[in-house]
Amino acid sequence: MKLHLNINRIEHELDIAAGDSLLKALRSLGYFGVKHGCETGDCGACAVLLDGKPVNTCNLLAAQAESHRIETIEAVGQHPEQGWKTTTGLHPLQLAFVESGAIQCGYCTPAQILAAKELLDRNPAPTEAEVREALSGVLCRCTGYLKPVQAVLRAAAVLRGEALEGITEQEWPFLPEEPGKSGPELPLSPAPYPMTSGPQTLSRVMPRIQVTPQAKSWSSVGKPEPKVDAIKLVQGKPAFTADFERRGLLVAKVLHSPLAHARIKHIDASRARELPGVAAVLTWQDIPRVVYSTAGQSDPIPGPLDAFSLDNKVRFVGDRVAFVAAETEEIADQALKLIDVEYEPLPILLDPAKAMQPDAPRLHDEPEYVNFAESDPARNLAAHIRIDIGDVEKGFAEADYIFEDEYEVPKVQQAHIEPHVVITYWDEDDRLVIRSSTQVPFHIRRILAPVLGLPIKRIRVIKPRIGGGFGGKQEVLVEDVAAHLTIATGRPVIIEYSREEEFTASRSRHPMRVRMKTGVNKDGTLTANAMYALVDTGAYGCHALTVTGNTGSKAMALYVGDGPYRKAPNIRFYADVVYTNHPPAGAYRGYGVPQGYWPLERHMEKISRRLNLDPLEFRLKNALRAGELHPFSTAWSEGREPKPETVETCGLEECVRQGKAVIGWDQKFGNPVWRSETGSSHLRRGIGVAMVMQGTAIPYLDMGGASIKMNDDGSFNLLVGATDLGTGSDTVLGQMAAEVLGVPLEDIIVYSSDTDFTPFDKGAYASSTTYISGNAVARAAQQVADRIRWRAARMLNELAPAGAAQLISDDLRLANRLAIAPDGRSVSLSEVGHHALHLADQEQIMGVASYMSPVSPPPFAAQFAEVTVDIETGQVRVDKLVMAVDSGVIVNPITASGQIEGGMTQALGYAVCEEMRYDESGHPREVNLRDYHIFRAHEMPELETIFVETFEPSHPFGVKAVAEIPMDGVAPAVGNAILDACGAQVDDNPTTPEKIWRALRESNVSVFPQR
Ligand code: FES
Ligand code: FES
Repeated sequence: MKLHLNINRIEHELDIAAGDSLLKALRSLGYFGVKHGCETGDCGACAVLLDGKPVNTCNLLAAQAESHRIETIEAVGQHPEQGWKTTTGLHPLQLAFVESGAIQCGYCTPAQILAAKELLDRNPAPTEAEVREALSGVLCRCTGYLKPVQAVLRAAAVLRGEALEGITEQEWPFLPEEPGKSGPELPLSPAPYPMTSGPQTLSRVMPRIQVTPQAKSWSSVGKPEPKVDAIKLVQGKPAFTADFERRGLLVAKVLHSPLAHARIKHIDASRARELPGVAAVLTWQDIPRVVYSTAGQSDPIPGPLDAFSLDNKVRFVGDRVAFVAAETEEIADQALKLIDVEYEPLPILLDPAKAMQPDAPRLHDEPEYVNFAESDPARNLAAHIRIDIGDVEKGFAEADYIFEDEYEVPKVQQAHIEPHVVITYWDEDDRLVIRSSTQVPFHIRRILAPVLGLPIKRIRVIKPRIGGGFGGKQEVLVEDVAAHLTIATGRPVIIEYSREEEFTASRSRHPMRVRMKTGVNKDGTLTANAMYALVDTGAYGCHALTVTGNTGSKAMALYVGDGPYRKAPNIRFYADVVYTNHPPAGAYRGYGVPQGYWPLERHMEKISRRLNLDPLEFRLKNALRAGELHPFSTAWSEGREPKPETVETCGLEECVRQGKAVIGWDQKFGNPVWRSETGSSHLRRGIGVAMVMQGTAIPYLDMGGASIKMNDDGSFNLLVGATDLGTGSDTVLGQMAAEVLGVPLEDIIVYSSDTDFTPFDKGAYASSTTYISGNAVARAAQQVADRIRWRAARMLNELAPAGAAQLISDDLRLANRLAIAPDGRSVSLSEVGHHALHLADQEQIMGVASYMSPVSPPPFAAQFAEVTVDIETGQVRVDKLVMAVDSGVIVNPITASGQIEGGMTQALGYAVCEEMRYDESGHPREVNLRDYHIFRAHEMPELETIFVETFEPSHPFGVKAVAEIPMDGVAPAVGNAILDACGAQVDDNPTTPEKIWRALRESNVSVFPQR
């Protein structure tokens, strides 16, 4: 049908099907700022303004928008500098989003800005609550909403003509560095939920940061630089995988299994193939049978090879049965219905304890299965871990008390707003191009080469902007689907998962049942600590060993004991990772560590309360300290040979000191008046803590590369294989290059990543990019800087009067875009670049470097939570989260605090509401973003980030990891705060109202005095 749409004051005529959504119509016209995140009107990524009001376009027919006024992000503002052309520049909202760090992946940003624009158009002076309400229709999985709210409040102030404090001028009071000195008074948790504080307070975006002395003199590292990709993202430019047009693009769909466990007795795709518009249908009979692992990890994959692109057996509801490529999505959907499949149902295993029994049916009986380490498909074991440090039984025998209990953590979803999406095509050299929203482009290329029957050199993987990943895209999930179909048809193919497919056929966090056993002396000294984890990996063993290894090696490493135990701790971690007919688990931010901290920190809380010990002092007494051996470094290394590693820096004690001051711990903890002073007899307040540590990269394995070349205007191209999935890694890597080269960040043009052009990088996972890839960038920049100094010295010598002392390169320093001699003479970097490329002894000044770390320096953090519990209903409201973090030097306080806020928000869902549940036939109960609740802007507690810097000596800028640690402590801190509020002891996560209500009526604390 013919349709007329008025979009951004331009009349468009288009030919569409009657059932086409407005989202589809807008994107077909090139309005790529309108994003797809679901099909059900839940995420808001597709929002536009219709007659000035925000509406979701995915569930609105295009025909319904005829004769209405449509406004998209493309009309809001534009890049201020466009050569000779004068533009109106960015809208104040766009500018505020850029400056405030309100953009992480940027996938939700266009919709957030449009929602905010509608608010400010009708209400120029909104309260924070009104801003949150306006943004509540747009889900953001990255930011925690704090910075978007701050950005809107700043923009509102600018539009009202008010003067605002500049972001770089913002400083917070800090406790004095020496304990015991008096210092500035810190505000005590001033804003009870719902927050009512005004715009001036909330327009402050800098986190509290205690800067280490080494970082104070730097000009780019440590500064709140705007993200290098922010300007394009704020305009909704076509930066993501699906924002790519190619003639003849086919749409791919997957036929998913309706059964949790079955053999495919017969499959007939002939009716589907005959459907006009179908280009190809592939079943397991049509493609080579190549076993591989879908886990995007380095070679050799530390896990079993147990997957095929298509198999004659299905192992979970949602497993793959067939692939279709067709001219349109509708034809592809029709074709799926025409594939005839006869299944032979097999027994369903959903309980890992039963699945590992000797007489249980086998999920993996295929002869091609390749074991790794102690995987054993005969017992449905994808992995099996036994780690003993010291003598745990002796430690238990020495204890005054033994505490033993069981805990449970759920299966949860990464829920990145951009679904998995891939486009594949043959290029003009008959090389297969895979344009993918992936965290691991180089692993995709390596893993898929044998699966597709292509040598690595004939595959090119391009990673555009990623709309969030959180580990979910550390997987070869749909790249092979599109690639097989491109091989079959010779045509370009796109596959984009629906939100339902994200829930049924992608990856998730491993659920675990965990048993803790801990020996403690009367004075609070831990004598031995043991954890056993029974892990459900689902149908495939992707990341099974490594995720579970992290559960033990990162969580159980934190508490070593005190006194003699400090040098000789007794720690045990055992785990069985079991195949079941649930959808496979995989990598999810934190990578097994949040699963470890829920039981550990709930258990530590129980112990401190039963022994009447201060929970902070008890933890710090037993916690790992700087200068000590990482206890797991001699016992575990992801299936490889472990090597001893000393923890060089640990700011945990200072994190506790700063964090407890900000949340007002001393005034609140154990204070019955504060606890019940809620204005309501059935409400109780509580405060809780959890201490956590993570790792930074995988030692002796992870490698990242970088190359830098100098241009003739003194700017630089920085190429990195590292994948910025919204974290801001392109920006912080650019800042490190800028610091070494003495230029502002705007002179560094960062590009990531393309397997043809950028150096290798293991990808974005294990909290490693700033550390590993940053080290490579610093090294490459150093090479370039050395060459610049050499040439600059030569240029200055040529200009010097006869007889003047000759400069050598070591005499020069680079700063302010200059190479400067000790006597003040200088040449500009643009002169050096021009000289090198055009004038004398011409050369391309460039550097290439890579870095692999022998260590994995742990970041540490103290996580505090404040809650209010309704003791009649079990309803819990988290009022405030404060996280004090030692992540080494913070390269960019705005992007790093955005990571902490976003991480705490994801972890908050893990704490109180997120859970993927299944019925007895293995069918999921939650398949959309309405039933699976992730926090919205108006539901958030107050968030506060404190950075306590230490200087990690193994990195030129002293950094450690930031990205994953905020996932670790929120759930146990919230659980401990609930316990503090009302005595409800909930051992299985998430702490839902029902569980709290039940726990209030029964006590399940078990403590067994040994003597
Ligand atoms: S894409 Fe429209 S609400 Fe999610
Ligand atoms: S920045 Fe909002 S979803 Fe990524």
